[in-house]
Amino acid sequence: MSAAVSGGFALYLHWPFCRSKCPYCDFNSHVRERIDEARWRRALVAELDHYAAETGGRRLDSIFFGGGTPSLMAPETVAALIERARRHWAFAPDIEITLEANPTSVEAARFEGFAAAGVNRVSLGLQSLDDASLRFLGRQHSAAEARAALAVARRQFHRVSFDLIYARPGQTLEAWTAELGAALELAGDHLSLYQLTIEPGTGFEGAVARGDFSVPDEATQAALYEATQARLEAAGLPAYEISNHARPGEECRHNLVYWRYGDYVGAGPGAHGRLTLAGRKWATRQHRAPEAWLAEVEAKGHATRQRDEIAPPERVSEMLMMGLRLTEGVSLARLAAEAGADPGTIVSEPRLARLTEGGFLRRDAQRLVATKAGRQRLDAVLAALIA
Ligand SMILES: C[S@@+](CC[C@H](N)C(=O)[O-])C[C@H]1O[C@@H](n2cnc3c(N)ncnc32)[C@H](O)[C@@H]1O
Ligand code: SF4
Repeated sequence: MSAAVSGGFALYLHWPFCRSKCPYCDFNSHVRERIDEARWRRALVAELDHYAAETGGRRLDSIFFGGGTPSLMAPETVAALIERARRHWAFAPDIEITLEANPTSVEAARFEGFAAAGVNRVSLGLQSLDDASLRFLGRQHSAAEARAALAVARRQFHRVSFDLIYARPGQTLEAWTAELGAALELAGDHLSLYQLTIEPGTGFEGAVARGDFSVPDEATQAALYEATQARLEAAGLPAYEISNHARPGEECRHNLVYWRYGDYVGAGPGAHGRLTLAGRKWATRQHRAPEAWLAEVEAKGHATRQRDEIAPPERVSEMLMMGLRLTEGVSLARLAAEAGADPGTIVSEPRLARLTEGGFLRRDAQRLVATKAGRQRLDAVLAALIA
């Protein structure tokens, strides 16, 4: 079965450490003076072994080292994990192995080692090309350092993507358009462009509550989003997902597995997984706190906190929540397979009709797709679609 039909199969590995905590970030990332990397390597390998016991032999389409800051890992750790994965699963001939990296010179110095370990794609967190904005975002690198890291990445990896955060406080349409132009001059075949969100529990949440700054209003955010879509489309990197742009064929295969509702093993602190076993689908989640995760893996061989069966109606809503983010939308045949029945019995026809007439959804014999307008307000569309 092709990845597009089955959704594919992937492995996510979470590295929970960062050099410092960025004030906007609510990922499971922590600053530690020092860690015992050999222990961490053994524990991650142990969780791979644990999940391979029930999924071993499947064809693996992608491995993703996410974080936190996986570019702080020793290349030997990355190599050991890829080697272990190779023992457990059959690598697809075009397997994608991505590592998320911060663009500092220290990390760029490791890129060669990551490439030798088998990494063939990097995703760099540039965030901005403007020094004042980088300081505001609490980043540890300058724009010049980020450009230099990007150049090193280009020499080592065939596929390089980078992230930018826009809709920052006070950012005008003119300023963002200029920054986007500069980004496009540097871009390869993939770009992730995220609107700044103020996440609960972050430094930025406190700052906004104190009135230190505010994010652009809704109308400005919408204008920035629309300008982004148009500019990237014109440059040959159309959106294939709400915040992700690629030349056709250069989409991130790993994220496509999530959005096409494929299966993935999640190992490392706080990692989530989705596994289909004998027709039943399971949601897994590992212990979130790094030290507790480590202790539990050392004691039991894994630190699974949650392992719940996902009932067919939830499978349908999860698949819609993920798939409608994609420009390609959701396959109706796969939706029916997840539902174990006609999805028409789960997604109400009058709701669908209202959203289609409103111009937010489009449906043909094969697929259900959110239109541009629908993707821009996907949360509201999903709330109106799913009972
Ligand atoms: C796991 S994080 C970062 C990986 C890497 N540690 C880094 O900082 O470059 C993935 C991406 O999410 C984006 N991101 C994180 N928090 C965000 C927020 N509150 N608003 C918008 N984008 C955010 C950033 O662009 C970041 O690069
Ligand atoms: S944005 Fe990246 S470097 Fe900053 S705290 Fe989050 S994961 Fe760490």
